[in-house]
Amino acid sequence: MENGKATQKDIKHLMGEHRRIGILTSGGDCAGLNAVVRAVTRRATGTYNWEVWGIYRATNGLMSRPPQAVKLEIEKVEPTLTQGGTMLGTTNKGDPFAFPMPDGTLRDRSEDIIEGYHLLGLDALIGVGGDGSLAILRKIAQQGNLNFVAIPKTIDNDVGITERSIGFDTAVNIATEALDRLQFTAASHDRVMILEVMGRDAGHIAISAGIAGGADIILIPEISYTIDNVCRDILERQRQGKHFSVVVVSEAVCTETGEVVKWSDRFGECRLGGIGQYLADRISACTGAETRVTVLGHTQRGGMPSPLDRLVGSAFGVAAVDLIATEQYDQMVTWQNRQVVAVPIAEAIGKYQAVDPNGTLVKTAKGLGICLGD
Ligand code: F6P
Repeated sequence: MENGKATQKDIKHLMGEHRRIGILTSGGDCAGLNAVVRAVTRRATGTYNWEVWGIYRATNGLMSRPPQAVKLEIEKVEPTLTQGGTMLGTTNKGDPFAFPMPDGTLRDRSEDIIEGYHLLGLDALIGVGGDGSLAILRKIAQQGNLNFVAIPKTIDNDVGITERSIGFDTAVNIATEALDRLQFTAASHDRVMILEVMGRDAGHIAISAGIAGGADIILIPEISYTIDNVCRDILERQRQGKHFSVVVVSEAVCTETGEVVKWSDRFGECRLGGIGQYLADRISACTGAETRVTVLGHTQRGGMPSPLDRLVGSAFGVAAVDLIATEQYDQMVTWQNRQVVAVPIAEAIGKYQAVDPNGTLVKTAKGLGICLGD
């Protein structure tokens, strides 16, 4: 093994050794997950002659009896490269350590998951998830002494150490396209158009799409703003003869008084959303401008993956199988300086990656004269 990649010698040695590996996708879906499943299947079956089992609906598939899983063959995964979602299904509900049971109680199901791994006869497991899912999967793997390798995915791009997570690029493309479209309709009606984007506690989607899509104002959770600053910027543009503005705001931006705008779903889980309308009401009251809000929502997660997400997914999938080939477990594949590099999972999930207020993107936005509300 050289730099996390299997050499020809490793491959020859391992070709004769039969292994059965599992893969699951966990947490919110995103574009590019099928590219990972395809790459894992091609590398494991094609290069090493192993068996690959796709586990359905994240750890739920391992809790079920019999475990819910499918043997993956190249023909089955081949057509999925361009497809959105995850062919294995996923869930972002139900912590296995406090799993909601039908009778309303919470039960620790971690031992059921470990048993499911053994019932499937797995030698190793690849988990594709964001920081929350990967922390849970790692805890289970440690408890059961399971051979586990992690791949980061999330449109939020907030997993530590890695420069790229699967799904982020597609989400930025969709948000940028929305901004491109909003520019024209904003100009036609002299309106202030507000685009609310996802990203959870990090403003990566907003700052990237905002710059690429020519937004006038970008509001992200990492930089505090005032309504006065935002309105002053809009009025100044009007004074200079540009009678419309386009604003992009991250869902986790707080109100001016610091409250998170959220609602509870029927499972009692907190969901972010509504900051766009809050801003629209205040901007309209303070500038007299007509405002409209677009909440982009789950369109950022669905649909065809961008070429970059397919590429990163493919590279991560191949590298994760190579880590198993060389028995390097408890590692996560990351993208760093144009290379796929393995790092200990604990290190990656221990470092939350927010937008750096002194980083290149913030400097670029400011250098372009984009208002960040501060
Ligand atoms: O973490 C990914 C993400 O899409 C966030 O950006 C968003 O806040 C959340 O998931 C939405 O979750 P759900 O699919 O449960 O509505």
